[in-house]
Amino acid sequence: MELTVQLGDRSYPVFLNDSRSLPDVLKSRFPDRGFALVTNTTLARLYEKKLAGLDRALGPVRHVIDDGERFKTVATWQAVLDTLLCSRLDRQAVVLAFGGGVVGDIAGFAASAFLRGVDYVQIPTTLLAMVDSSVGGKTGVDHLTGKNRIGAFCQPRMVWIDTRFLDTLPEREFVGGCAEVFKYGFIGGAEMFAFVVAGREKILGRDPALLLDAIEKSIRIKAAIVAEDERESSGKRSLLNFGHTFAHALETYYDYDKLLHGEAVLWGMACAVELGLRAGTVPAESRAEYAAFCDHLPRIQLPSRPSAGDLYAGMFADKKAAAGKIRFVLPAQPGTSVLRDDMAKADVLAAIEAVLDRTSP
Ligand SMILES: NC(=O)c1ccc[n+]([C@@H]2O[C@H](COP(=O)([O-])OP(=O)(O)OC[C@H]3O[C@@H](n4cnc5c(N)ncnc54)[C@H](O)[C@@H]3O)[C@@H](O)[C@H]2O)c1
Repeated sequence: MELTVQLGDRSYPVFLNDSRSLPDVLKSRFPDRGFALVTNTTLARLYEKKLAGLDRALGPVRHVIDDGERFKTVATWQAVLDTLLCSRLDRQAVVLAFGGGVVGDIAGFAASAFLRGVDYVQIPTTLLAMVDSSVGGKTGVDHLTGKNRIGAFCQPRMVWIDTRFLDTLPEREFVGGCAEVFKYGFIGGAEMFAFVVAGREKILGRDPALLLDAIEKSIRIKAAIVAEDERESSGKRSLLNFGHTFAHALETYYDYDKLLHGEAVLWGMACAVELGLRAGTVPAESRAEYAAFCDHLPRIQLPSRPSAGDLYAGMFADKKAAAGKIRFVLPAQPGTSVLRDDMAKADVLAAIEAVLDRTSP
């Protein structure tokens, strides 16, 4: 199946479970080009055979990074650039990002900077990367002052999704990826909301047909949002941050340790619904529907009980807090969300406390 991210002359295809072989497609779309492949230690080990096939077909320069968010740094990015710069590659190079969101973000950012920018291809291997980070062109690395604070908008030339990669994905990572699928239920329209409500159990159970459907629907929603607001300037793309304002505060609180991003997003989405119910953005007739939906989302157990005040303070440090105001994405009619920066501190704290009551020891 082929989907398209419509961005004029920078439009690109997203191939989903395509029957052709990846090297054949790469060779035909990028004839006579040099390749580099960026991956991490875990994937290099798990997919040794597959990567050997790519080696034989394309002879890419390879750079393997350490595995983990803590390596999503300027130093790692620079090491990728060192490899590219010390190779035979020129401006015709195509960088292949083979991995989850961390590899994709770093490799994309390296491609954006190498010789002032070369093409790159996303080959996502986690559910999160398939439905979210591989599409949309946000690339970058973390800084001591926060996540993803250094980077560039740089769209890939192509995205290649093969859901067989999910067979080796650990369960926690898979559930974390489901968080981003469920997120689209809150922002992707009434049909997506209904799909996620009805299909949630089967998606979590890795039902192949439902999962494929969920990935396709998620990409279509993300692609449409990116096409409308590529650089997050009109507010439309900010809707993708549903649950993320709370999630980032929680991740920062735990120093990006102990919780996966997707787990923090599940927790953050519960907070967003709680706040939406309190602030009245959810219409009265939909309150029960939202409450039931949240009840059935996987429940994250936190290792401790953070103070709601600390988490609230942490939200101001988030790069999305413009001019000292925290912008929340809150649920409205099922399947739609609204941006609000006028939430009373007391309501935010109460929403956080309510979710902490359900999720902390
Ligand atoms: N660019 C964007 O628009 C965007 C959007 C959302 C998230 N992100 C970023 O994505 C990152 C999170 O991505 P992620 O959840 O994919 O994390 P990740 O890249 O760290 O991958 C998670 C873990 O799964 C392993 N893994 C990956 N694929 C595997 C497979 N097929 N089999 C077995 N193990 C596998 C990885 O080695 C890693 O240990 C964060 O840095 C976040 O900031 C970026």
